[in-house]
Amino acid sequence: MVIVAFDKKEEKVDIALLRKSYEQDSRLWPMPFVDSGVRWVELGTLVSPPTVGKLDSVEQARQLLGKMLFFEPRLSATKQISCSSCHDPDLSWTDGRQKAIGHNHRVGRRNTMSLQNAWVQKELFWLGRVDNSGHGALQPLVDPFEMNTPIEVALEHINSLSGYAPFVYRAFAKSTLDEQSLGIALSSYIKSIASHRTRFDNFVDGRYRALSDEQVYGLHLFRTKARCINCHNGPFFTDFSYHNLGFSHFGSEKQDLGRYEVTGNPEDVGKFRTPSLRNAFRTGPWFHDGSFQDLFLVVNMYNAGMPQPRPRKGQEESPLFPKQDPLLKPLNLTIEERNAIVRFLEAISSVPMTVKRPNLPDLD
Ligand code: HEC
Ligand code: HEC
Repeated sequence: MVIVAFDKKEEKVDIALLRKSYEQDSRLWPMPFVDSGVRWVELGTLVSPPTVGKLDSVEQARQLLGKMLFFEPRLSATKQISCSSCHDPDLSWTDGRQKAIGHNHRVGRRNTMSLQNAWVQKELFWLGRVDNSGHGALQPLVDPFEMNTPIEVALEHINSLSGYAPFVYRAFAKSTLDEQSLGIALSSYIKSIASHRTRFDNFVDGRYRALSDEQVYGLHLFRTKARCINCHNGPFFTDFSYHNLGFSHFGSEKQDLGRYEVTGNPEDVGKFRTPSLRNAFRTGPWFHDGSFQDLFLVVNMYNAGMPQPRPRKGQEESPLFPKQDPLLKPLNLTIEERNAIVRFLEAISSVPMTVKRPNLPDLD
């Protein structure tokens, strides 16, 4: 049964009725507003990495070694920057900065991604430039904007610390670390980084008091009038796809052509991976360029239909002029509705997890 919760004449929401339509199995929730041709999955509870509780002793040893290396500044050429410098567990595995600051304090091109639930991705990074089944975790090590460290230098640093040898042996049955085992160790640690359950997960599991009235209203808007579910759907609030929201800054010095850099297809100019919104409340600043510092402003921008950039003089004929996604349109959300969506984003977020930093081997 679909329950209509809006009083058409007054446009007032009957929140009791709305709660009723959501306080039931999610298969019975009101139909979402999804455009034809969009493949979507209903929002759902958190899924854990498939390896949880199922690791054999070799896998456990690889994960532990990966964790040590993740927090290890001596992995970098300067011995001063580790993966955790930017992916800080206390900051929900990101850095709280607009753009990353890497080797020699060089400001990077893009916003640091949180590593939570990265195991679920098929392609890594904002552009999806690396397959997640391989050793994509090595890319940031060599990236000039991140650790700017040739792999041989990283390996030399680690292999010169005798304290690592037993850990490497337990993980790979050899005494020195090589490129392949470094990649495997880091990837296996990253794939263990999951987010916590949230109030939303409790709600879906039947603990209906977990969400306030405003949050239930936000959930409803997220699935309907605000159209977010067209791209942010499923248990991770992402379609694992790429869209152009209008922030490629075409023709300016801030220009970022997005996924086009990977595919060379003009249709992909300005497209970036749809981020998971789990913990979005805590992973700001937001967007690939960190241009949004406030979630209400993000929702305001969606409400306006995003920037819809038009070609300037001389750009009209350019085959690379970015095309903004047709799924975006002005939404006519009231201020109350926009606030409710922000409160819903809070309901799908949880406090950062406490991660015990590993003991790193002393200098020889
Ligand atoms: C200087 C800051 C910085 C450091 C240090 C850093 N990263 Fe990152 N990381 C980033 C940024 C920025 C992105 C997004 C880059 C992009 O898409 O262009 C990212 C993205 C990632 C992703 C992709 C996540 C996803 O969901 O697709 C992985 C995996 C990753 N980093 C792992 C690592 C590992 C492993 C290390 C250490 C070897 C590391 N990072 C060190 C800033 C950093
Ligand atoms: C057309 C697909 C699409 C729709 C519809 C959409 N989003 Fe997004 N969303 C994206 C993409 C793609 C990005 C990343 C864009 C970028 O970085 O340039 C994003 C980014 C975000 C971010 C920032 C996340 C981060 O980690 O930086 C938030 C928050 C967000 N969206 C919330 C929403 C809300 C709320 C709605 C509904 C009002 C919505 N989105 C509708 C595709 C979409």
